[in-house]
Amino acid sequence: MSSTHPSSGTRIEGAAALVTGGNRGFGRALVDELLGRGAAKVYATSRSTQPGPQRDSRIVPLILDVADDSSVAAAARAAPDVSILVNNAGISLATRVLEAPLSDIRDELETNLFGIIRVARAFAPVLALQPRSSIVDVLSALSWLSFGRGYEISKAAAWSATNALRLAIRDQGTIVTGLHVGYMDTDMTARVDAPKADPRDIARQTADAIIAGDFEILADDTTRAIKSHLSEGVTALYAHLAAA
Ligand SMILES: NC(=O)c1ccc[n+]([C@@H]2O[C@H](COP(=O)([O-])OP(=O)(O)OC[C@H]3O[C@@H](n4cnc5c(N)ncnc54)[C@H](OP(=O)(O)O)[C@@H]3O)[C@@H](O)[C@H]2O)c1
Repeated sequence: MSSTHPSSGTRIEGAAALVTGGNRGFGRALVDELLGRGAAKVYATSRSTQPGPQRDSRIVPLILDVADDSSVAAAARAAPDVSILVNNAGISLATRVLEAPLSDIRDELETNLFGIIRVARAFAPVLALQPRSSIVDVLSALSWLSFGRGYEISKAAAWSATNALRLAIRDQGTIVTGLHVGYMDTDMTARVDAPKADPRDIARQTADAIIAGDFEILADDTTRAIKSHLSEGVTALYAHLAAA
């Protein structure tokens, strides 16, 4: 389910897109979906070299560390034709807020929050060259529900950063979309024993939202339920607090 339809979004057919962390997990599923929708080229980034031939000749592998200024600047120079940017790169370090080293929580913020801002800043002039362009930030249902960890702090902050970027960049014709999703079946959730969405289904919804120009994607029932409880007070989301 998506929300708020402005007049129109960004064409995928014939476009050049860049997906941070596009070599595995959800990013890889999204690269494949964009190619399936007729993208002319998809830059799929990874922090390390991707050896061997690509599975599709339209994939352009690119080295990128979103936590590193010079790496991000180099990526923007290497991909000057992009009209669709997906800030997908993310880490989850199981950082309990009272016990984890602050350096680990900082690392999560550096990638999940500052990575989005850093990449958006570098690519804003690139996207401005296109008549219509799109940024998708991969957020989470956990932008709105805490399990007591740095990860959720980073995703809540990234949600706010997404809202700020949407306002900051709208005058150049770039639409910013926040993707909120519960568990997906990727490396990140390998140890989670719970129902997980197929990343390909979430990728399909994301491509639809890019074309429609939606501001927000609420990708599954869990995400929609969490968001709907936000206006009901803290104990609607944290029932055990009411019992305590
Ligand atoms: N899986 C879920 O249940 C779930 C739910 C909600 C939201 N999300 C979000 O979805 C996004 C993708 O996660 P995933 O599930 O696909 O996890 P994943 O399988 O662990 O993949 C993480 C991706 O992020 C990239 N990455 C990590 N740190 C990076 C950095 N500093 N610079 C550039 N790339 C970096 C990795 O690239 P390398 O190839 O360099 O390792 C990898 O492609 C993340 O933002 C995550 O928070 C996931």
